[in-house]
Amino acid sequence: MIELRNVSRSFVVGDQKVTALRDINLLLGNGEYLSIMGPSGSGKSTMLNLLGLLDRPTSGEYLLDGGNVTDLSDEQQARVRSEKIGFVFQSFHLVPRLTAAQNIELPMMLAGIPVEERKQRVTKLIESYGLTARSDHRPDQLSGGQRQRVAIARATVMEPSVLLADEPTGNLDRTTGWEVLKLLEGLLNQGITLVLVTHDAEIGARAKRQLQMLDGAILSDKLS
Ligand SMILES: Nc1ncnc2c1ncn2[C@@H]1O[C@H](COP(=O)(O)OP(=O)(O)OP(=O)(O)O)[C@@H](O)[C@H]1O
Ligand SMILES: [Mg+2]
Repeated sequence: MIELRNVSRSFVVGDQKVTALRDINLLLGNGEYLSIMGPSGSGKSTMLNLLGLLDRPTSGEYLLDGGNVTDLSDEQQARVRSEKIGFVFQSFHLVPRLTAAQNIELPMMLAGIPVEERKQRVTKLIESYGLTARSDHRPDQLSGGQRQRVAIARATVMEPSVLLADEPTGNLDRTTGWEVLKLLEGLLNQGITLVLVTHDAEIGARAKRQLQMLDGAILSDKLS
């Protein structure tokens, strides 16, 4: 369960203040499928970064599974992120020097999971995402769709309860984007909460719950 209470986020650049989010209230239940749409600059990524504990609100509170995570230390937030949250980005954000398998293994190394279990989980994900023949390839040796599959495997290897995806199909052609979307939606069957930021109205319309943002505020919040 995710709850944002009166969350605002502003940035100061030079002598200018930009309000990226204004007084957001949001309640999101476990297993929900939420899409977030809205024009460029409306605050979608800022919201996702806050939900992913990659950023902090200027004011307001964030409760995750009933616990207030707003004021946790960086270290405590990193632990919560590692246990509960997966992130997928438009530009993949893989580590260039590491192979596909090593990229997927990385979050488990950081979490101190023993090597045997790491190998098992990597193998399983590599197989289920159709990457067996590419497991020793570095990101620059992979196609966009393969990179995003590696990124999704990395984001889910710790079995998070929430997956946050910021334009995950934005750099992919239509067919490949569609395949990636199917993969993400497949995670809903495992009970994951999926939050998907997209510019593509057709993709956004697939989510059961749809948020429209404008100028840092929630313009509408609809169930389909
Ligand atoms: N680190 C930052 N410093 C200053 N301003 C920022 C920062 N991050 C975001 N902003 C501003 O906050 C507003 C919201 O940005 P955000 O990235 O959340 O928009 P978005 O809806 O994701 O847009 P897009 O669809 O283009 O990705 C914008 O006006 C942006 O310029
Ligand atoms: Mg964005």
